[in-house]
Amino acid sequence: MALVTLNELLPVAREQGRAVGAFNIANYETAKAVIMAAEAEDSPVIIQIYQRLMDDPHIAALGVMMRKFAEDASVDVAVHLDHGASYEQVVKAIDCGFSSVMYDGSQLPFEENLAQTKKAAEYAHQHGVSIEGEIGHVPLNSTLGDAMIPLSTPEEAARFANETGVDALAVSIGTAHGYYSKTPVIDVALAGKIKAAVSVPLVLHGGSGTPHDTVKAVIKNGFAKVNVATEFQHAFETSVYEEMGKLNGKFVPLDKLMIVPTEVAVKHLCQLIKLFS
Ligand code: 13P
Repeated sequence: MALVTLNELLPVAREQGRAVGAFNIANYETAKAVIMAAEAEDSPVIIQIYQRLMDDPHIAALGVMMRKFAEDASVDVAVHLDHGASYEQVVKAIDCGFSSVMYDGSQLPFEENLAQTKKAAEYAHQHGVSIEGEIGHVPLNSTLGDAMIPLSTPEEAARFANETGVDALAVSIGTAHGYYSKTPVIDVALAGKIKAAVSVPLVLHGGSGTPHDTVKAVIKNGFAKVNVATEFQHAFETSVYEEMGKLNGKFVPLDKLMIVPTEVAVKHLCQLIKLFS
């Protein structure tokens, strides 16, 4: 098995009515947990990072680590930039060895998003890298308040996918990033209509806290990549707090302190991978 792009993972998943989990890592332990969970479930996986990490002057080292994890895994793994914020970030991620990128122009006017995504897609494809685009911005829960989430339309999704040449498309059907303050209203019927209009695999952002039966229904409607960050990182963090609480001021080497939180994260991720497949 190997380092792959989204193209080796998502079209076949869409065809089979399943999805590949895409999990945001931030360090060695969370990256290792994603790989361990995927290997335990014998499932492909996507390991991805928040775009803000691209501004870290040592990001190239994280890229090498993620790539090495992917190359050595017993399952197929794509190394992906989540929500790339500019063309320059896309170029940088590709320079750092990512096999896949996202260019997120969803907050731009539609035509500008289309033009910028097309430019990023051309560059990615010249370098053998897959690319995800986004229309109909999936917002942050924390900034949402009582506002309605703007939903994507099948027509704009079809035009965007055809004209940009993206390999996967994130669309808005009612999810939001981060924990929900109230039960989200997810438009599964809209998911089906977008699937019928668009041949590329669809991407569900804001996986944390989205009801599991809804996630399953959405996967059956062409969503072949499901992003989860908050709930898996929170499971890891909660365990770190618990382990630190047990120390009572004593020193434990950091690698030993991280054993239990990593196991907790692996367990959580295994459940998600089972749900998506
Ligand atoms: P959550 O943090 O809500 O799981 O969203 C993750 C995501 O969509 C990353 O792009």
